[in-house]
This record gives sequence, C-alpha cells and structure tokens, in this order.
Amino acid sequence: MKETAVDPVNVAIIYYSATGTVHALAQAVAEGAEKAGAQVRLRQVAETAPEAAINSNPAWAEHRTATADVEKATHDDLSWADAVLFGTPSRFGNPASQLRAFIDTTGPLWFEGKIAGKVFSAFTASNTAHGGQESTILALSNTFYHWGGIIVPPGYTDPIQFQSGNPYGTSHVAGDGAPGEVALQAARHQARRVVDTAAALKIGRAAG
Ligand SMILES: Cc1cc2nc3c(=O)[nH]c(=O)nc-3n(C[C@H](O)[C@H](O)[C@H](O)COP(=O)(O)O)c2cc1C
Repeated sequence: MKETAVDPVNVAIIYYSATGTVHALAQAVAEGAEKAGAQVRLRQVAETAPEAAINSNPAWAEHRTATADVEKATHDDLSWADAVLFGTPSRFGNPASQLRAFIDTTGPLWFEGKIAGKVFSAFTASNTAHGGQESTILALSNTFYHWGGIIVPPGYTDPIQFQSGNPYGTSHVAGDGAPGEVALQAARHQARRVVDTAAALKIGRAAG
C-alpha cells in the first residue's frame, strides 16, 4: 500500500478517580500513548459528589486537592480525539456516576455523528478481586456500541497480560495498595495497542 503522511494520533484519556488509583493508571496510559507517538490529553471529569461526602474521606479530599490542576474533560476533547481511553473506579460493578454524568452530556455530539468511528478502550479499579472490574468495563462498552465506536481491548496481546490477567482492560485491586509495575505496564501496553490501531485507521482513512 502507498504510504500516506498523516498527523499523529490524538488520544484523550478521560477518567474519574476519588482516591488516586484510577488516576495512577491514567498517568501510565498517558505515558504509553505518548511513547507510542500520540498527542495526549489527560482529562478528569468534573466532581459531582457533595462536599460533605468528599470531606468525610481524607484520601478523597487529599486526592482532589492534589489533582486540582488536571484539566476537566470537555466535548472538544472527544471531538479532537482519534482514540479515547476511559478510566473509572467500579461502583457496585458499574462505572462511577461522575464519569456517567460526563458521558450523559454527549447526546448532541453523538447526534451530529462526531463520536462514531473513533477507537475506544477502558480501564478500572475495584477494592477487591472479583469486585466488578470486568462488568464495569463491559458496562462502559455498552456506550461505545451506541456511539458506533471501535472497541480495542488489550486481550492477551502481550506477555504482561498473562500477569495482569484482564483482557477487557487494565484493572487494579485498590485494596492491595497503589498500582504496581504489572498494572502500570498493562496500562502502557493497552495505550500502545489503542494508538497502533488508531494510527492504522487514520492512515487507511487518509489514503481513502
Ligand atoms: C459507592 C461505591 C461502591 C463500590 N463498589 C465496589 C464493589 O462493588 N466492589 C469493589 O471491590 N469495590 C467497590 N468500591 C471500591 C472502589 O471501586 C475503589 O475504592 C476504587 O476502585 C478506587 O479507585 P480510586 O482510588 O481511583 O477512586 C466501591 C466504592 C464506592 C464508593
């Protein structure tokens, strides 16, 4: 096939994190995407919980202060991106309502066809093993189907996946502490796979 010059892949990482676990995964995803040659926007969604709830958990309040400088996700980030990786803690087997609240504002973009055809992938955390990680990622994927997205999971496409063990998307058991090297490597691998897929699509589409 004739080579076509195209711009780098644009990757948006849009996440919610109350106490820092998903934020750490999101940073590793950003590293992996940048290393794979993408332009990256790391964005947190807006907090929607009441102040009293946040302040009742010191780890939550501290993390919010520590990440106050992370820009908030907007519709422009979705429009700009060729690929989007969403990160969320598990909430009873589902994505956090803060992330859903952002997703639920995207009706106009969806209606205008501005989300279809992009690459999507997801990562998560729960406090316990078997605590709902796979169902959380699958629940997010329902939206990717409705958007007409191209879902790119990590599968078992790298040796790290046989250690991290989640083919649906990177996940971490927060009850074991902060994400270690295995989870962080899996996050970087997932990002690389997303960038490679989005790059192939971008080149193919530019070639017509
Ligand atoms: C309302 C709520 C529901 C939760 N449900 C579960 C659950 O069903 N299983 C589980 O293992 N952890 C559950 N958790 C724990 C979170 O998933 C965990 O604290 C989170 O993944 C940590 O990520 P973060 O540090 O990025 O906030 C729940 C937490 C909250 C606040």
